[in-house]
Amino acid sequence: MTIPKLKIRDLVAGIPIIQGGMGVGISLSGLASAVANEGGIGVIAAAMIGLHETDICSNFREANIRALRKEIRKAREATEGILGVNIMVALTNFADMVKTSIEEGIDIIFSGAGLPLDLPKYVKDEFKTKLVPIISSARAAKAICKRWLSRFNSLPDAFVVEGPLAGGHLGFSADQLGNPDFSLEKLVPEVLEAVAPFCEEHNVEIPVIAAGGIYSGADIHHFLQLGAAGVQMATRFVATHECDADIRFKQSYIDAREEDLVIIESPVGMLGRAIRNRFIDDVEAGKNKPFKCPYHCITSCNCADSPYCIALALANAKRGNLKRGFAFAGENAYRVDRIVSVKELIASLLDEYRRASYGPVAGRQPDQLLSVSGTS
Ligand SMILES: Cc1cc2nc3c(=O)[nH]c(=O)nc-3n(C[C@H](O)[C@H](O)[C@H](O)COP(=O)(O)O)c2cc1C
Repeated sequence: MTIPKLKIRDLVAGIPIIQGGMGVGISLSGLASAVANEGGIGVIAAAMIGLHETDICSNFREANIRALRKEIRKAREATEGILGVNIMVALTNFADMVKTSIEEGIDIIFSGAGLPLDLPKYVKDEFKTKLVPIISSARAAKAICKRWLSRFNSLPDAFVVEGPLAGGHLGFSADQLGNPDFSLEKLVPEVLEAVAPFCEEHNVEIPVIAAGGIYSGADIHHFLQLGAAGVQMATRFVATHECDADIRFKQSYIDAREEDLVIIESPVGMLGRAIRNRFIDDVEAGKNKPFKCPYHCITSCNCADSPYCIALALANAKRGNLKRGFAFAGENAYRVDRIVSVKELIASLLDEYRRASYGPVAGRQPDQLLSVSGTS
């Protein structure tokens, strides 16, 4: 059985796989263009994208705008496929990143880590950028639909629903993380149900894309069976040659054991999933990592009381300096055992998908989807 295409309005991706945006330099033009070239949707992450610009500390706004432009253009030169930018609502330069992406003609903006209630206000008729909120509940989907309709007479072009097994910052409390009522299997049908009346009333399709802990082609099959139109995957794409992180960042995924995947309290006031290392142990033991906030990059970051700067920690990790930072990762990162090309990864996912679609005997069952790591 061939895998269905993913349609987001007039955009048609040959395979229903979105590479999740990974901030602070993990998914840039290299990874995004490689995924787009294989028929998926490649996503550049806007968070601290200017980290390699020499004036990032003195000229935070301009450095990030310049870097984003460069990455979008570089990716565009490398692919004719579909490209997106991931822009977290919590970024202090959210508006700059959205406007720049639209000016550069990006195909899709993905936006989470907060509710992107005002996102449509940046899009003018001449631009065709699609807007896709990332949410973690049916309630959020409904709230966004209502607000966009009343304020902008528009609806989202799709939703990504991100469950509790994802990497990076999470939209769940500690109690919810361990509660099966908040599993991705529950969330996907709930979001589909919440969105259905809006689709009917306005005669549009709003595809729902599942994210968080999706590891194999059998998992993709499982979520498409539940009604998802596609999947967003991030962790699997870290261990590829094309991923824009340093090799030591990728190696930390290969070295991770199941018990190393932990929940941290991020200085930005959200929980996050990361690979435990000495840096994380030190912070938990109360050993602060003194810093002077160079950018104030996240609106909710209380830098005066933070034990460390998350932007610096993630930038160090991206560069391979894991002594001075740590790697965000999804719950299934410990299953990664080697680095492959994006082409090989996608070929194996499609093969597993095909086998799963022949039925439970021939196919592999999606496994470990409901398991969650303990909070720390
Ligand atoms: C290293 C890393 C960085 C991430 N950075 C971001 C980000 O900047 N913005 C965002 O919305 N999501 C971010 N995420 C979440 C992913 O986009 C994705 O939705 C999620 O990790 C999917 O789960 P998976 O990693 O199990 O496939 C990040 C995830 C990882 C692993």
